[in-house]
Amino acid sequence: MIPVECYIDILPVFFYNLVSCFIYLTFILDMLLLYQISRKLSMKNNFRSAAKASIVLLCRFLGDTMNVSFDDLKGKVCAITGGGGIIGASLSQALAGLGVKVAVLDLNVEAANKVAEQIAKDTGSEAIGVEANVLQEASLLEAKKTINEKLGKIEILVNCAGGNHPRATTQSEFLTELSESALKDSFYGLDVTAFQKVFDLNFLGTLLPTMVFTKDMLELKHGSVINISSMSSYKPLTKVPAYSAAKSSVNNLTEWLSTHLAKMNIRVNAIAPGFFLTAQNKFLLTDEKTGDLTQRGNKIINRTPMGKFGDPADLNGALAYLASDISSFVTGIIIPVDGGYNAYSGV
Ligand SMILES: NC(=O)c1ccc[n+]([C@@H]2O[C@H](COP(=O)([O-])OP(=O)(O)OC[C@H]3O[C@@H](n4cnc5c(N)ncnc54)[C@H](O)[C@@H]3O)[C@@H](O)[C@H]2O)c1
Repeated sequence: MIPVECYIDILPVFFYNLVSCFIYLTFILDMLLLYQISRKLSMKNNFRSAAKASIVLLCRFLGDTMNVSFDDLKGKVCAITGGGGIIGASLSQALAGLGVKVAVLDLNVEAANKVAEQIAKDTGSEAIGVEANVLQEASLLEAKKTINEKLGKIEILVNCAGGNHPRATTQSEFLTELSESALKDSFYGLDVTAFQKVFDLNFLGTLLPTMVFTKDMLELKHGSVINISSMSSYKPLTKVPAYSAAKSSVNNLTEWLSTHLAKMNIRVNAIAPGFFLTAQNKFLLTDEKTGDLTQRGNKIINRTPMGKFGDPADLNGALAYLASDISSFVTGIIIPVDGGYNAYSGV
């Protein structure tokens, strides 16, 4: 008796051969049919014409059934703001790995150059570091000029520059008493200048680059804008009112602009990452001295069904999907990449 496991091992090979036979048979039948047609039409080189036409048909067939790739991204130019940061660098690497020419933009030009050099080394793709301040139109126009000269017209924009500030963050989650120190640690103790800065960086810092860089997309009549939002855009997180309000506005702008630019074939979408242990939120999630999770860090892990923080590479799939023509009928959506955090009510 042949054991059942042997049949299970053989099954994939059997199906592979079955499909191959079907393809060969189709090819031969096509050729015979086209040979007859070319003879009837008194065409020269009947056999060669029939073989050529059969190959075209076969490629079409295979193309139709297997055309799931990110090949359309090869050679396209992407500008990514905040590309020198932790998530921006990871997203830049991912796009370069798919053959995209990446312009890594950052206020910190050394960080941007370092990321671009690493990309060129790892992927062999063209990548440049460019100094750009997302809050200054003149700086963005200058950056665009450099990108156009060195890489070409921009067809993908990732708005990744953003972040929070400790002085726009309350010390307490709830105001529970009227003492001077309690008020200082609450909403009433927030530094309005810091609040404005956080709002500007995340909201204006998305609006201005979009205004400047999508001009290329208008000319090309094709483009994809991907904004980096946050979990705090859906339901505000405690302690970070400026960041929450700004990211919520980013979602609103994403939807508004997706409608406004739809007829120009420019798609506007966003990714809302869950929680990632990076420089800007480390002070909230881990204890500086011990490195242990803070109460807030633990709360997040407990509220994340997958029970962990994200890794920047977890964002790559959503990024490639939104950048590529695979999602050509998708605009105005915000994709949470969060280990289930947004879907979980906590009960
Ligand atoms: N880290 C997380 O858990 C998390 C979660 C959700 C969303 N996000 C969002 O992801 C994005 C990237 O976050 P990150 O954790 O990689 O942060 P990061 O601080 O590592 O990177 C931000 C980058 O933006 C640059 N930048 C700051 N101001 C700028 C300006 N005016 N012009 C141009 N560049 C400027 C910084 O130099 C830095 O390189 C941000 O929009 C952030 O809000 C992060």
